Amino acid sequence: MWTMLLLISGACSNLEPPNEMNTKINDLMDQMTLEEKIGQMNLYNGFWEVTGPAPEEGDAANKYKHLKQGQVGAMLNIHGVENVRKLQELVVNESRLGIPLLFGYDVIHGYKTLAPIPLAEAASWDLEAIEKSSRIAAIEASSVGINWTFAPMVDISRDARWGRVMEGGGEDPYLGSRIAIARVKGFQGEDLSAVNTIVACAKHFAGYGFAEAGRDYNTVDIGTSTLYNIVFPPFQAAVDHGVRTIMNSFNILNGVPATGDTFLQRDLLKQRWGFDGFVVSDWGSTGEMINHGFARDASHAAELAANSGSDMDMESYAYVNHLKALVDSGKVDIATIDNAVERILKVKFELGLFDDPYKYCDPEREKELIYHKDHQNAVLDMAKRSMVLLKNETNLLPLSRGQQKIAVIGALANDKNSPLGSWRLSSDDNTAVSVLEGLKSYTDQVTYAKGADLVTAETTFINEVPINETDKSGFRDAVKLARKSNVVVMVLGEHGYQSGEGRSRTQLDLPGVQQELLEAVYEANKNIILILMNGRPLAIPWAAEHVPTILESWHLGSQSGNAIAEVLFGEYNPSGKLPMTFPRSVGQVPIFYNHYNTGRPDGLDIVFWSHYMDESNAPLYPFGHGLSYTTFDYTNLSVEVSGASKVNVKVTVTNSGQMAGEEVTQVYIRDVVASVVRPVKELKGFKKFSLEPGQSRIVEFQLTEKELGFYDNKGNFKVEPGKFEILVGTSSVEGLSGEFEI
Ligand code: BGC
Repeated sequence: MWTMLLLISGACSNLEPPNEMNTKINDLMDQMTLEEKIGQMNLYNGFWEVTGPAPEEGDAANKYKHLKQGQVGAMLNIHGVENVRKLQELVVNESRLGIPLLFGYDVIHGYKTLAPIPLAEAASWDLEAIEKSSRIAAIEASSVGINWTFAPMVDISRDARWGRVMEGGGEDPYLGSRIAIARVKGFQGEDLSAVNTIVACAKHFAGYGFAEAGRDYNTVDIGTSTLYNIVFPPFQAAVDHGVRTIMNSFNILNGVPATGDTFLQRDLLKQRWGFDGFVVSDWGSTGEMINHGFARDASHAAELAANSGSDMDMESYAYVNHLKALVDSGKVDIATIDNAVERILKVKFELGLFDDPYKYCDPEREKELIYHKDHQNAVLDMAKRSMVLLKNETNLLPLSRGQQKIAVIGALANDKNSPLGSWRLSSDDNTAVSVLEGLKSYTDQVTYAKGADLVTAETTFINEVPINETDKSGFRDAVKLARKSNVVVMVLGEHGYQSGEGRSRTQLDLPGVQQELLEAVYEANKNIILILMNGRPLAIPWAAEHVPTILESWHLGSQSGNAIAEVLFGEYNPSGKLPMTFPRSVGQVPIFYNHYNTGRPDGLDIVFWSHYMDESNAPLYPFGHGLSYTTFDYTNLSVEVSGASKVNVKVTVTNSGQMAGEEVTQVYIRDVVASVVRPVKELKGFKKFSLEPGQSRIVEFQLTEKELGFYDNKGNFKVEPGKFEILVGTSSVEGLSGEFEI
């Protein structure tokens, strides 16, 4: 059957003019039965031993049969050249038309070689490095047969309780959009038909990051202004830069499940933004519309999802079981099916799967590229760029390589698993370089005491993390060690599985007995360098007040310990900036820099202003904050308006310290009076660059309509004349300010 298809398709690559590809798709669709068309809209999870005998019973047998009957368009969680080839052969050789499968996988921050978690990468504000990181992930993933990743997650979130903040670009739509573009470019490259590029998927459309109270899968209820100005921009940016797939979302958005939302999927995404790839549901989200109280049963769910523009059903069995009857009864138009199938086939053509369905199945490539040295170097570089120096009051950092005795304390310091993060499905356990290993490669003056376990039992991707809440038996040794050391490196934070999907928290403190350990060690030795290892902003007011040095390292991936050691010993000068606000207290959450002013923003002697009685409004560490071992001075801000709405901004940045370093200059504006009120600050530009000690540079930005305008409550973009305030500097709260009028 495959030969027949080859005859139709000929040599097809994405260099061909689109109309030729369309003709081929049409030819193919003319041959397809309705069942085969619906099959393309069906995405199954693979869970049996693919290279073993054909499954004979249960769900697996059913899926196997459907594969042979051409009733499956894509598989997820099948990886490894041998496995992918086996299933591709099954479909190509045994189904009537032999249409090759897509193989999807959550390649979130790498396949086996792991880069930092996406939130950590976002902290680098380094778009080139982020693009490269996704490129590396695509190269490795494509070598094991994967041709589609369910990434990037571009959900903006302001709520650190939500575990999935680790998977995104943080709280800001401008930074988030730039990162979304970098990641799409990294995964998809210049040419989707190349053997080392894979299809990207911007997810979760839309609003998932605004789950109420930070509880995963929870209701989302937000207004038009937030939707258009905060939630949508990274998706639109991904679409504008050619992302080929979009995943919808588990949540309801203003009463309608995203999976069944016609406005989102048809009106906005496909019509207004002109998205011509396909939409895939989230895992089981079609069926979950029954629980939401939107669909009566699976058939109704299939009808609502298909009609609203969800092209492919992931693991709900709703399309494969019900779409045919729905078409026969006229509830779903055949044109709806045709449109979805056309979109899916187009992506397959663009990948070049009709030229060679086994193009990602080269065992030599697989052997060569897994854990490749170049990939290790790239993720090491990315890891260094991702750390944020939150505090360095007494200049404990950088450490000298001299004879000072270094105590290393904390279970996470000796953990080779946690740095791999939450989404590391295929990476091998315990393959990260631990902090302890990293430090030991620099000096033999390192002694380790665990202090306390973080977890009490084995941890897994699917189970709750058992945290040690009681056992402090190791405190004594840790305190003793701290007392006789010159400096203490404490590695505290979250286990790798404490953030990610299904991992919401109500507390944002150091889990278990870690806070107590920190305070006990502090009593013995105040020279503490606290390395935070976590997947979300934490509320650590005590540490921020007492501990002299705090380095945010997140979950940094395979090369974690080496990267941290390089930063501690000053071989790399930290340059990261927070992509999410750190709260003082969970009660402040959601806390974010681009909030509105309120009618009562100013402090009064009496209580009637917008504040808390028991906590300040200010964050612990603001968005954009991050120190360096050197200092940067800002002078000579110039803001010139040219033409109707063009603003040229210039500022001089000088490295006024002793060490070469990188700075991220950030531009924030405020539209002072607008027909829909604008936030007190909005990021509208940033540049990352390095300066030698004493060196200066004039950094320039141009603000155009795109940066100066906003979406009104009807979703129309407008620029309104009037006064603007501007802040140019080193974080969202520190810099030179000015004003201009357009
Ligand atoms: C997640 C998606 C993911 C999918 C497939 C879902 O639970 O929400 O982000 O891509 O599973 O693994």
